Amino acid sequence: MARAKSLFVCQDCGATHAKWAGQCEGCGAWNTLNEEQISDSAPKGLSSGKGSKINFVGLQGSEACPPRLPSGIPEFDRVCGGGLVPGSALLVGGDPGIGKSTLLLQVTAAVAKSQRQARCVYISGEEAVDQVRMRADRLSLSDAPVDLASTTNVRDIIASLDGADPPQVVVADSIQTLYVDNLDSAPGTVTQVRTSAQELIRLAKRRGFALFLVGHVTKEGNIAGPRVLEHMVDTVLYFEGERGHQFRILRAVKNRFGPADEIGVFEMMDSGLSEVANPSALFLADRDGEVSGASVFAGIEGSRTMLMEIQALTAPSAFGTPRRAVVGWDTGRLNMILAVLEARCGLSFGSNDVYLNVAGGMKISEPAADLAVAAALVSSLTNVPVPPEAIVFGEIGLSGEIRPVSQSGARLKEAEKLGFSQAITPKRQGQKNGRETNTGGGLIQTETGHLQDLLTLLSPHSAGSPFTAVGGRA
Ligand code: TYD
Ligand code: MG
Repeated sequence: MARAKSLFVCQDCGATHAKWAGQCEGCGAWNTLNEEQISDSAPKGLSSGKGSKINFVGLQGSEACPPRLPSGIPEFDRVCGGGLVPGSALLVGGDPGIGKSTLLLQVTAAVAKSQRQARCVYISGEEAVDQVRMRADRLSLSDAPVDLASTTNVRDIIASLDGADPPQVVVADSIQTLYVDNLDSAPGTVTQVRTSAQELIRLAKRRGFALFLVGHVTKEGNIAGPRVLEHMVDTVLYFEGERGHQFRILRAVKNRFGPADEIGVFEMMDSGLSEVANPSALFLADRDGEVSGASVFAGIEGSRTMLMEIQALTAPSAFGTPRRAVVGWDTGRLNMILAVLEARCGLSFGSNDVYLNVAGGMKISEPAADLAVAAALVSSLTNVPVPPEAIVFGEIGLSGEIRPVSQSGARLKEAEKLGFSQAITPKRQGQKNGRETNTGGGLIQTETGHLQDLLTLLSPHSAGSPFTAVGGRA
């Protein structure tokens, strides 16, 4: 007979403790231990009983895999690796209010509209049927043949989906609101989230439908509930963006059926999310010509190149300890670049506050942006603008050397496509510093081997510098 006992479970990492403590020993998080009833019915070893033999098979099968189900929203299909895989589970995480429910309602409706024979189910545990209907009306999707329900009981959900007419797409919004009725824990606790997800995923695999689980994100940016949720699903998508900006980025951080790190760019409008086919043009749309402290970085996001503006501002600090504020880039990396500029190039940021911002609400994690960040910082300090028609990329090493980065060709090509005429890049193997080459497509490439070369380029007094100071200051 299973005996129920209570344990303290960390809501972040899922580690269990016999006693309550302020800090979880597993992950070091504070105030995350919650008391939960755990059924003590785990198998007690394999001492008795005989298992049945497993049939092993080869890697090649005679049965063809069911085809992927395209959603009809190309930006979304790209992130999934080319459409929904039948029998797969996708976790969609994101801050509250970022647009997860809107996105999934649009995807469900798009599949229902384009694949008439596919049954699409949207289960909302957070909103009432009328609320979802109002949203559908706002998105002009009321006519899509979607099966809508508002419930939180997993047993009822499974009973309704495991019938004669199995669905092809199911959305459960959100996993934190669902509960399994034979567990004593409250909805949203680790035990409930894990068990509910497990039950739904098992059904999805058995009946072959694509299952979307919506997950909330904690203050630290992890999907609330245990990390095990990320291990249980096939694909983890993060929906991110700055609240004040209209851009939203859907990013695949794990994908068993496609490339990870792939992104889709959307814009939140009054009538829902619309796809952004050419994000570079949009992210650079509001650029002013000659401003100091701004540079354009050619970055790689998944399979696509994107140009983004990096802005830096240095201002005299009013306090003893200057501020370092960063949006869209890593603070540690900024400190490293400042240290290299100070130690290797003799610049002084010590008495200045430094602000760094990636325009448009993008988040960059590539080290290839180092040189563009350095260019923006130096430009802000010296008041010499980086030419508006130049793109910059390259990784910076601790000795100030500029290291080559991957996919230079793709970066240059995107810049050329968008009408840029100059590129400040790392030097290729065996080339001399500061060499200017024409890439053949009208783009002048200036190769730099050391940060000092960048400083020379951005120096107001440099004879060879094609750049001039603004506002007469030199
Ligand atoms: P929602 O999908 O409810 O977010 P989540 O499920 O991630 O919590 O999105 C809500 C936000 O989106 C809300 O602030 C309003 C905005 N929104 C629009 O701007 N346009 C729209 O057409 C819709 C439906 C929502
Ligand atoms: Mg929601």
